[in-house]
Amino acid sequence: MTKIGIFFGTDTGNTRRIAKDIHTLLGAGLAAKPVNIRTASVQDLLQYEVLILGAPTYGEGELPGLNTGNATESWAEFLPKLAGSDFTGKTVAIYGLGNQKGYAKDFVSAMIYLYDSFRQCGATLIGASSTDGYQFKQSKAVVDAQFVGLALDQDNQKELTPARLSAWLENLQAAWA
Ligand SMILES: Cc1cc2nc3c(=O)[nH]c(=O)nc-3n(C[C@H](O)[C@H](O)[C@H](O)COP(=O)(O)O)c2cc1C
Repeated sequence: MTKIGIFFGTDTGNTRRIAKDIHTLLGAGLAAKPVNIRTASVQDLLQYEVLILGAPTYGEGELPGLNTGNATESWAEFLPKLAGSDFTGKTVAIYGLGNQKGYAKDFVSAMIYLYDSFRQCGATLIGASSTDGYQFKQSKAVVDAQFVGLALDQDNQKELTPARLSAWLENLQAAWA
């Protein structure tokens, strides 16, 4: 079985496109095809040793889902299902999509909810990244002066995404090797 599961939430497709890029970069031998979290169960996630989880931020620093006006259910509906699950021994890395100009006070904040929830379930979180190169005022997803995952801004810094993504994946691969 493939070692890495990729799950994402999305409304307008950016986070899905990044999930596909991650799948391509890692290779089909290592990573399973990305799955939209609205169609996934907790059991689906537990199949994998390593999880890469992608979430855009909606509302004002919130998880995507029906409450933030998304067309479908997403992470906001999925995370409550995690309560009581055991992710001990699992490794989780998070990437977050956001808009640092339009939402400078809550840039990629939704990552923190995934981070906290999976940590509470016993997972080992990897993939924190530097805030250098971004311009924003606040983010709930900054802990100890770093983003808890990889921050990507397809609205303002699309051209920086390929290099950010490959550098992040290289670091991840070193961590789970
Ligand atoms: C109504 C709305 C609210 C948003 N709120 C935030 C926010 O609070 N923080 C942020 O960083 N980005 C915010 N964004 C930007 C999105 O996260 C960004 O456009 C992202 O790429 C969308 O991902 P998706 O195409 O996978 O849905 C918001 C966008 C919209 C349309």
